[in-house]
Amino acid sequence: MDSFSFYNPTRILFGAGAIRHLGQEMNNAGVKKCLLVAGGGSIKTNGIYEQVIQSLKTSQIEWTEAWGVQVNPTLDKVREMIAQAQKEKVDAVLAVGGGSVIDSSKAVAAGFYLDDVWQAFLGKAVVKEALPLFAVLTISATGSEMNGNSVITNTTERRKWSLRSPLLYPKVSVIDPSVQSSLPFQQTVNGALDAMAHILEYYFMDDKALATLAMNSALLRTIMDMTDRLRQDPADFVARGNLAWSATLALNGISGIGLKGGDWACHAIEHAFSALYPKIAHGEGLGVVFPAWIEYVSEKQPERFVPWAKNVWGADSVSHALRRFRDMIASWGSATNLRDLGIRESDLATLRDIILDTRGVGKIVKFSADEIDALLMLAF
Ligand code: NZQ
Ligand code: ZN
Repeated sequence: MDSFSFYNPTRILFGAGAIRHLGQEMNNAGVKKCLLVAGGGSIKTNGIYEQVIQSLKTSQIEWTEAWGVQVNPTLDKVREMIAQAQKEKVDAVLAVGGGSVIDSSKAVAAGFYLDDVWQAFLGKAVVKEALPLFAVLTISATGSEMNGNSVITNTTERRKWSLRSPLLYPKVSVIDPSVQSSLPFQQTVNGALDAMAHILEYYFMDDKALATLAMNSALLRTIMDMTDRLRQDPADFVARGNLAWSATLALNGISGIGLKGGDWACHAIEHAFSALYPKIAHGEGLGVVFPAWIEYVSEKQPERFVPWAKNVWGADSVSHALRRFRDMIASWGSATNLRDLGIRESDLATLRDIILDTRGVGKIVKFSADEIDALLMLAF
Protein backbone atom coordinates (compact mmCIF):
# COMPACT_ATOMS: atom_id res chain seq x y z
CA MET A 1 0.00 0.00 0.00
CA ASP A 2 1.25 3.50 -0.86
CA SER A 3 2.50 5.97 1.75
CA PHE A 4 0.05 8.74 2.47
CA SER A 5 -0.57 11.84 4.54
CA PHE A 6 -4.11 12.38 5.76
CA TYR A 7 -5.56 15.29 7.69
CA ASN A 8 -9.10 16.61 7.70
CA PRO A 9 -9.75 19.66 9.88
CA THR A 10 -13.55 19.96 9.44
CA ARG A 11 -15.71 19.38 12.52
CA ILE A 12 -18.97 17.65 11.61
CA LEU A 13 -22.16 18.18 13.61
CA PHE A 14 -24.42 15.36 12.48
CA GLY A 15 -28.04 14.61 13.33
CA ALA A 16 -31.60 15.88 13.55
CA GLY A 17 -31.72 19.33 15.13
CA ALA A 18 -27.96 19.90 14.84
CA ILE A 19 -28.44 23.30 13.16
CA ARG A 20 -29.23 24.86 16.54
CA HIS A 21 -25.56 24.46 17.58
CA LEU A 22 -24.25 26.44 14.59
CA GLY A 23 -24.25 29.89 16.21
CA GLN A 24 -22.38 28.63 19.25
CA GLU A 25 -19.71 27.06 17.01
CA MET A 26 -19.31 30.35 15.12
CA ASN A 27 -19.15 32.21 18.40
CA ASN A 28 -16.41 29.88 19.62
CA ALA A 29 -14.46 30.74 16.48
CA GLY A 30 -14.82 34.45 17.21
CA VAL A 31 -17.16 35.27 14.31
CA LYS A 32 -19.01 38.58 14.62
CA LYS A 33 -20.65 39.00 11.20
CA CYS A 34 -21.01 36.53 8.34
CA LEU A 35 -22.07 36.47 4.70
CA LEU A 36 -24.94 33.95 4.51
CA VAL A 37 -24.79 32.38 1.03
CA ALA A 38 -27.86 30.56 -0.35
CA GLY A 39 -29.31 29.18 -3.58
CA GLY A 40 -32.68 29.55 -5.26
CA GLY A 41 -34.88 29.53 -2.16
CA SER A 42 -35.48 25.89 -1.14
CA ILE A 43 -34.19 26.68 2.36
CA LYS A 44 -37.05 29.16 2.86
CA THR A 45 -39.75 26.62 2.01
CA ASN A 46 -38.38 23.69 4.00
CA GLY A 47 -37.65 25.58 7.24
CA ILE A 48 -33.83 25.38 7.19
CA TYR A 49 -33.45 29.17 6.87
CA GLU A 50 -35.55 29.75 10.00
CA GLN A 51 -33.44 27.31 12.01
CA VAL A 52 -30.20 28.96 10.86
CA ILE A 53 -31.40 32.48 11.62
CA GLN A 54 -32.64 31.41 15.04
CA SER A 55 -29.25 29.97 15.88
CA LEU A 56 -27.38 33.09 14.67
CA LYS A 57 -29.68 35.34 16.71
CA THR A 58 -29.28 33.24 19.85
CA SER A 59 -25.51 33.60 19.56
CA GLN A 60 -25.73 37.30 18.60
CA ILE A 61 -23.98 36.87 15.29
CA GLU A 62 -24.79 39.47 12.65
CA TRP A 63 -25.28 38.47 9.05
CA THR A 64 -25.86 39.79 5.54
CA GLU A 65 -27.53 37.59 2.91
CA ALA A 66 -26.49 36.67 -0.64
CA TRP A 67 -29.14 34.70 -2.54
CA GLY A 68 -29.32 33.22 -6.01
CA VAL A 69 -26.39 30.82 -6.37
CA GLN A 70 -27.37 28.61 -9.31
CA VAL A 71 -26.66 24.93 -9.83
CA ASN A 72 -23.33 24.70 -11.65
CA PRO A 73 -22.39 27.99 -9.95
CA THR A 74 -20.83 30.83 -11.88
CA LEU A 75 -17.79 33.04 -11.46
CA ASP A 76 -19.92 36.16 -12.06
CA LYS A 77 -22.03 35.38 -8.99
CA VAL A 78 -18.91 34.64 -6.94
CA ARG A 79 -17.43 38.03 -7.88
CA GLU A 80 -20.65 39.80 -6.94
CA MET A 81 -20.62 38.09 -3.52
CA ILE A 82 -16.93 38.88 -2.91
CA ALA A 83 -17.77 42.57 -3.42
CA GLN A 84 -20.68 42.26 -0.97
CA ALA A 85 -18.49 40.49 1.60
CA GLN A 86 -15.86 43.24 1.37
CA LYS A 87 -18.39 46.08 1.50
CA GLU A 88 -20.17 44.57 4.50
CA LYS A 89 -16.85 43.81 6.24
CA VAL A 90 -17.81 40.27 7.21
CA ASP A 91 -15.35 38.06 9.07
CA ALA A 92 -16.75 34.68 7.94
CA VAL A 93 -18.81 32.97 5.23
CA LEU A 94 -21.78 30.75 6.04
CA ALA A 95 -22.95 28.45 3.24
CA VAL A 96 -26.50 27.14 3.57
CA GLY A 97 -27.19 24.74 0.70
CA GLY A 98 -25.66 22.04 -1.47
CA GLY A 99 -22.37 21.76 -3.30
CA SER A 100 -23.10 24.76 -5.51
CA VAL A 101 -23.61 27.04 -2.52
CA ILE A 102 -20.67 25.63 -0.53
CA ASP A 103 -18.30 25.80 -3.53
CA SER A 104 -19.31 29.40 -4.22
CA SER A 105 -18.78 30.24 -0.55
CA LYS A 106 -15.28 28.76 -0.69
CA ALA A 107 -14.48 30.91 -3.73
CA VAL A 108 -15.74 33.96 -1.83
CA ALA A 109 -13.68 33.01 1.23
CA ALA A 110 -10.52 32.86 -0.90
CA GLY A 111 -11.44 35.71 -3.26
CA PHE A 112 -11.94 38.09 -0.33
CA TYR A 113 -8.13 38.39 -0.17
CA LEU A 114 -7.27 38.10 -3.89
CA ASP A 115 -7.24 40.62 -6.75
CA ASP A 116 -8.92 38.13 -9.08
CA VAL A 117 -10.11 34.81 -7.69
CA TRP A 118 -10.21 33.14 -11.13
CA GLN A 119 -6.42 33.33 -11.28
CA ALA A 120 -6.38 30.85 -8.38
CA PHE A 121 -8.58 28.44 -10.38
CA LEU A 122 -6.14 28.77 -13.28
CA GLY A 123 -3.24 28.00 -10.94
CA LYS A 124 -1.75 31.47 -11.46
CA ALA A 125 -2.45 32.79 -7.94
CA VAL A 126 -1.99 31.05 -4.61
CA VAL A 127 -4.56 31.10 -1.81
CA LYS A 128 -2.56 32.30 1.20
CA GLU A 129 -5.47 33.47 3.31
CA ALA A 130 -9.21 32.80 3.42
CA LEU A 131 -12.19 33.81 5.50
CA PRO A 132 -13.31 31.05 7.87
CA LEU A 133 -16.11 29.02 6.31
CA PHE A 134 -19.09 27.34 7.97
CA ALA A 135 -21.64 25.17 6.17
CA VAL A 136 -25.14 23.82 6.65
CA LEU A 137 -25.52 21.00 4.13
CA THR A 138 -28.94 20.54 2.53
CA ILE A 139 -28.21 17.86 -0.11
CA SER A 140 -25.68 15.05 0.25
CA ALA A 141 -23.69 14.67 -2.94
CA THR A 142 -20.37 16.41 -3.40
CA GLY A 143 -18.53 16.01 -0.10
CA SER A 144 -17.81 19.75 -0.30
CA GLU A 145 -18.91 20.01 3.34
CA MET A 146 -15.72 18.17 4.35
CA ASN A 147 -13.14 18.93 1.68
CA GLY A 148 -11.13 21.87 0.38
CA ASN A 149 -12.41 21.88 -3.22
CA SER A 150 -14.44 24.50 -5.05
CA VAL A 151 -15.79 23.95 -8.60
CA ILE A 152 -16.90 27.07 -10.46
CA THR A 153 -17.89 27.81 -14.06
CA ASN A 154 -16.39 30.71 -15.97
CA THR A 155 -19.22 31.10 -18.46
CA THR A 156 -17.25 33.32 -20.85
CA GLU A 157 -14.35 30.90 -21.08
CA ARG A 158 -16.67 27.84 -21.00
CA ARG A 159 -14.50 26.36 -18.26
CA LYS A 160 -15.83 24.55 -15.21
CA TRP A 161 -12.66 24.25 -13.18
CA SER A 162 -11.73 23.53 -9.61
CA LEU A 163 -9.62 25.14 -6.93
CA ARG A 164 -8.18 23.13 -4.05
CA SER A 165 -6.69 24.55 -0.91
CA PRO A 166 -6.19 23.34 2.65
CA LEU A 167 -7.51 26.76 3.69
CA LEU A 168 -10.92 26.06 2.14
CA TYR A 169 -12.09 23.20 4.34
CA PRO A 170 -15.13 24.35 6.32
CA LYS A 171 -14.33 24.91 10.00
CA VAL A 172 -17.66 23.30 10.93
CA SER A 173 -20.30 21.61 8.77
CA VAL A 174 -23.77 20.74 9.99
CA ILE A 175 -25.33 17.66 8.41
CA ASP A 176 -28.93 17.19 9.49
CA PRO A 177 -30.24 14.38 7.26
CA SER A 178 -33.85 15.12 8.21
CA VAL A 179 -33.80 18.41 6.28
CA GLN A 180 -33.12 16.44 3.10
CA SER A 181 -36.56 14.82 3.07
CA SER A 182 -37.78 17.85 1.07
CA LEU A 183 -35.55 16.81 -1.85
CA PRO A 184 -37.30 15.60 -4.99
CA PHE A 185 -36.24 11.97 -5.63
CA GLN A 186 -34.35 13.01 -8.78
CA GLN A 187 -32.13 15.32 -6.70
CA THR A 188 -31.50 12.53 -4.21
CA VAL A 189 -30.43 10.37 -7.15
CA ASN A 190 -28.15 13.09 -8.52
CA GLY A 191 -26.45 13.19 -5.14
CA ALA A 192 -26.16 9.41 -4.90
CA LEU A 193 -24.64 9.14 -8.39
CA ASP A 194 -22.12 11.86 -7.63
CA ALA A 195 -21.08 10.20 -4.37
CA MET A 196 -20.74 6.84 -6.14
CA ALA A 197 -18.67 8.47 -8.87
CA HIS A 198 -16.27 9.92 -6.28
CA ILE A 199 -15.63 6.45 -4.91
CA LEU A 200 -15.33 4.95 -8.39
CA GLU A 201 -12.76 7.58 -9.44
CA TYR A 202 -10.48 6.00 -6.82
CA TYR A 203 -11.68 2.41 -6.93
CA PHE A 204 -9.82 1.09 -9.98
CA MET A 205 -6.45 2.73 -9.31
CA ASP A 206 -4.71 0.00 -7.28
CA ASP A 207 -5.86 -3.39 -6.00
CA LYS A 208 -3.44 -3.36 -3.03
CA ALA A 209 -5.21 -0.75 -0.87
CA LEU A 210 -7.38 -3.51 0.56
CA ALA A 211 -8.71 -1.68 3.62
CA THR A 212 -9.78 1.35 1.57
CA LEU A 213 -11.32 -0.85 -1.12
CA ALA A 214 -13.28 -2.88 1.42
CA MET A 215 -14.67 0.34 2.85
CA ASN A 216 -15.38 1.71 -0.62
CA SER A 217 -17.26 -1.44 -1.66
CA ALA A 218 -19.41 -1.14 1.45
CA LEU A 219 -20.03 2.56 0.81
CA LEU A 220 -21.11 1.88 -2.78
CA ARG A 221 -23.54 -0.84 -1.65
CA THR A 222 -24.88 1.38 1.12
CA ILE A 223 -25.46 4.32 -1.23
CA MET A 224 -27.37 2.09 -3.67
CA ASP A 225 -29.47 0.42 -0.97
CA MET A 226 -30.32 3.69 0.77
CA THR A 227 -31.31 5.36 -2.50
CA ASP A 228 -33.65 2.45 -3.27
CA ARG A 229 -35.20 2.86 0.16
CA LEU A 230 -35.68 6.59 -0.35
CA ARG A 231 -37.55 5.94 -3.57
CA GLN A 232 -40.14 4.13 -1.46
CA ASP A 233 -40.11 6.59 1.42
CA PRO A 234 -38.40 10.02 1.13
CA ALA A 235 -38.78 10.45 4.91
CA ASP A 236 -36.88 7.23 5.78
CA PHE A 237 -34.54 8.84 8.31
CA VAL A 238 -32.22 5.83 8.62
CA ALA A 239 -31.73 5.81 4.85
CA ARG A 240 -31.21 9.59 4.71
CA GLY A 241 -28.62 9.45 7.48
CA ASN A 242 -26.64 6.60 5.99
CA LEU A 243 -26.75 8.07 2.50
CA ALA A 244 -25.63 11.44 3.85
CA TRP A 245 -22.66 10.09 5.78
CA SER A 246 -21.62 7.79 2.91
CA ALA A 247 -21.61 10.78 0.55
CA THR A 248 -19.42 12.77 2.95
CA LEU A 249 -16.98 9.86 3.30
CA ALA A 250 -16.90 9.50 -0.49
CA LEU A 251 -14.87 12.69 -0.91
CA ASN A 252 -13.34 13.73 2.39
CA GLY A 253 -10.01 12.02 1.76
CA ILE A 254 -10.83 8.66 3.39
CA SER A 255 -12.04 6.92 0.24
CA GLY A 256 -8.86 7.81 -1.63
CA ILE A 257 -6.26 6.55 0.83
CA GLY A 258 -3.66 4.44 -0.96
CA LEU A 259 -5.35 4.95 -4.33
CA LYS A 260 -2.86 7.22 -6.08
CA GLY A 261 -5.00 10.36 -6.15
CA GLY A 262 -7.78 8.82 -8.24
CA ASP A 263 -8.37 8.82 -11.98
CA TRP A 264 -10.87 11.70 -12.45
CA ALA A 265 -11.39 11.28 -16.22
CA CYS A 266 -15.15 11.00 -15.75
CA HIS A 267 -15.25 14.19 -13.70
CA ALA A 268 -13.22 16.11 -16.27
CA ILE A 269 -15.62 14.91 -18.96
CA GLU A 270 -18.80 15.63 -17.00
CA HIS A 271 -17.61 19.11 -16.05
CA ALA A 272 -17.41 19.85 -19.78
CA PHE A 273 -21.08 18.85 -20.14
CA SER A 274 -22.10 21.30 -17.42
CA ALA A 275 -19.83 24.02 -18.85
CA LEU A 276 -21.66 23.74 -22.19
CA TYR A 277 -25.13 23.04 -20.76
CA PRO A 278 -25.47 24.68 -17.33
CA LYS A 279 -28.77 22.87 -16.71
CA ILE A 280 -27.22 19.39 -16.67
CA ALA A 281 -26.99 18.13 -13.09
CA HIS A 282 -23.46 16.95 -12.26
CA GLY A 283 -24.62 13.62 -10.77
CA GLU A 284 -26.90 12.79 -13.68
CA GLY A 285 -24.11 13.52 -16.17
CA LEU A 286 -21.79 11.19 -14.24
CA GLY A 287 -24.47 8.46 -14.39
CA VAL A 288 -24.05 8.57 -18.17
CA VAL A 289 -20.26 8.91 -18.35
CA PHE A 290 -19.17 6.36 -15.76
CA PRO A 291 -20.78 3.24 -17.24
CA ALA A 292 -19.45 4.25 -20.67
CA TRP A 293 -15.95 4.74 -19.22
CA ILE A 294 -16.07 1.33 -17.50
CA GLU A 295 -17.19 -0.28 -20.75
CA TYR A 296 -14.43 1.45 -22.72
CA VAL A 297 -11.57 0.80 -20.28
CA SER A 298 -12.61 -2.74 -19.29
CA GLU A 299 -12.37 -3.84 -22.92
CA LYS A 300 -8.64 -3.03 -22.73
CA GLN A 301 -8.00 -3.99 -19.09
CA PRO A 302 -10.73 -6.43 -17.95
CA GLU A 303 -8.83 -7.69 -14.87
CA ARG A 304 -8.86 -4.24 -13.29
CA PHE A 305 -12.65 -4.36 -12.92
CA VAL A 306 -13.08 -7.90 -11.57
CA PRO A 307 -12.94 -6.99 -7.83
CA TRP A 308 -15.58 -4.30 -8.37
CA ALA A 309 -17.88 -6.76 -10.16
CA LYS A 310 -17.44 -9.32 -7.41
CA ASN A 311 -17.39 -7.17 -4.26
CA VAL A 312 -19.94 -4.53 -5.18
CA TRP A 313 -22.33 -6.48 -7.40
CA GLY A 314 -21.71 -10.12 -6.46
CA ALA A 315 -21.34 -10.64 -10.22
CA ASP A 316 -19.21 -13.29 -11.92
CA SER A 317 -18.30 -11.05 -14.85
CA VAL A 318 -17.60 -7.38 -15.47
CA SER A 319 -20.23 -7.21 -18.22
CA HIS A 320 -22.86 -8.57 -15.83
CA ALA A 321 -21.92 -5.97 -13.18
CA LEU A 322 -21.99 -3.20 -15.77
CA ARG A 323 -25.46 -4.27 -16.95
CA ARG A 324 -26.72 -4.13 -13.36
CA PHE A 325 -25.12 -0.70 -12.85
CA ARG A 326 -26.91 0.65 -15.94
CA ASP A 327 -30.21 -1.00 -15.00
CA MET A 328 -30.04 0.57 -11.56
CA ILE A 329 -29.49 4.07 -13.00
CA ALA A 330 -32.43 3.58 -15.39
CA SER A 331 -34.62 2.29 -12.54
CA TRP A 332 -33.97 5.55 -10.68
CA GLY A 333 -35.28 7.49 -13.70
CA SER A 334 -31.88 9.05 -14.43
CA ALA A 335 -30.36 9.59 -17.89
CA THR A 336 -28.52 6.65 -19.43
CA ASN A 337 -27.10 8.32 -22.54
CA LEU A 338 -26.04 11.75 -23.79
CA ARG A 339 -29.28 12.17 -25.76
CA ASP A 340 -31.28 11.83 -22.54
CA LEU A 341 -29.20 14.73 -21.19
CA GLY A 342 -30.22 16.87 -24.18
CA ILE A 343 -26.79 16.70 -25.85
CA ARG A 344 -26.86 16.62 -29.68
CA GLU A 345 -24.47 14.73 -31.91
CA SER A 346 -23.41 18.05 -33.47
CA ASP A 347 -22.15 19.16 -30.01
CA LEU A 348 -19.71 16.29 -29.56
CA ALA A 349 -16.76 17.99 -31.27
CA THR A 350 -17.21 21.10 -29.12
CA LEU A 351 -17.43 18.93 -26.03
CA ARG A 352 -14.22 17.14 -26.98
CA ASP A 353 -12.42 20.50 -27.31
CA ILE A 354 -13.68 21.66 -23.90
CA ILE A 355 -12.59 18.35 -22.36
CA LEU A 356 -9.12 18.63 -23.91
CA ASP A 357 -8.79 22.16 -22.51
CA THR A 358 -8.69 20.70 -18.96
CA ARG A 359 -5.50 19.73 -17.17
CA GLY A 360 -5.23 16.13 -18.46
CA VAL A 361 -7.99 13.56 -18.79
CA GLY A 362 -7.49 10.38 -16.79
CA LYS A 363 -4.61 8.26 -15.51
CA ILE A 364 -5.65 4.63 -16.09
CA VAL A 365 -6.25 5.67 -19.69
CA LYS A 366 -4.82 9.08 -20.60
CA PHE A 367 -7.43 10.10 -23.12
CA SER A 368 -6.30 11.46 -26.48
CA ALA A 369 -8.68 13.44 -28.72
CA ASP A 370 -9.57 10.29 -30.69
CA GLU A 371 -10.23 8.32 -27.53
CA ILE A 372 -12.49 11.05 -26.18
CA ASP A 373 -14.44 10.94 -29.45
CA ALA A 374 -14.79 7.17 -29.10
CA LEU A 375 -15.93 7.42 -25.48
CA LEU A 376 -18.47 10.15 -26.27
CA MET A 377 -19.91 8.03 -29.08
CA LEU A 378 -20.21 5.10 -26.70
CA ALA A 379 -22.11 7.33 -24.26
CA PHE A 380 -24.26 8.89 -26.98
O1 NZQ B 1 -30.92 26.38 -5.07
P1 NZQ B 1 -31.81 25.74 -4.09
O2 NZQ B 1 -33.14 26.39 -4.00
O3 NZQ B 1 -31.18 25.56 -2.75
O4 NZQ B 1 -32.19 24.24 -4.65
C1 NZQ B 1 -31.22 23.23 -4.78
C2 NZQ B 1 -30.78 23.00 -6.22
O5 NZQ B 1 -31.83 23.28 -7.11
C3 NZQ B 1 -31.86 21.91 -4.45
N1 NZQ B 1 -31.84 21.58 -3.01
C4 NZQ B 1 -30.76 21.52 -2.20
N2 NZQ B 1 -31.11 21.13 -0.98
C5 NZQ B 1 -32.45 20.95 -0.99
C6 NZQ B 1 -32.92 21.25 -2.29
N3 NZQ B 1 -34.22 21.15 -2.63
C7 NZQ B 1 -35.08 20.75 -1.67
N4 NZQ B 1 -34.69 20.42 -0.42
C8 NZQ B 1 -33.40 20.50 -0.04
N5 NZQ B 1 -33.03 20.14 1.20
O6 NZQ B 1 -31.06 20.94 -5.10
C9 NZQ B 1 -30.55 21.50 -6.30
C10 NZQ B 1 -29.11 21.10 -6.50
O7 NZQ B 1 -28.27 21.77 -5.60
P2 NZQ B 1 -26.68 21.78 -5.83
O8 NZQ B 1 -26.07 22.51 -4.70
O9 NZQ B 1 -26.37 22.25 -7.20
O10 NZQ B 1 -26.34 20.23 -5.77
P3 NZQ B 1 -25.02 19.47 -5.43
O11 NZQ B 1 -24.79 19.39 -3.98
O12 NZQ B 1 -25.11 18.21 -6.19
O13 NZQ B 1 -23.81 20.37 -6.02
C11 NZQ B 1 -23.39 20.25 -7.35
C12 NZQ B 1 -22.20 21.15 -7.65
O14 NZQ B 1 -21.04 20.76 -6.89
C13 NZQ B 1 -19.95 20.49 -7.80
C14 NZQ B 1 -20.66 20.08 -9.04
O15 NZQ B 1 -19.83 20.15 -10.19
C15 NZQ B 1 -21.81 21.05 -9.10
O16 NZQ B 1 -21.40 22.30 -9.60
N6 NZQ B 1 -19.00 19.53 -7.21
C16 NZQ B 1 -18.30 19.91 -6.13
C17 NZQ B 1 -17.32 19.09 -5.59
C18 NZQ B 1 -16.54 19.50 -4.42
N7 NZQ B 1 -16.66 20.73 -3.96
O17 NZQ B 1 -15.75 18.70 -3.88
C19 NZQ B 1 -16.99 17.79 -6.17
C20 NZQ B 1 -18.00 17.28 -7.10
O18 NZQ B 1 -17.42 16.32 -7.94
C21 NZQ B 1 -18.67 18.33 -7.94
O19 NZQ B 1 -17.89 18.67 -9.06
ZN1 ZN C 1 -18.59 14.81 -8.43
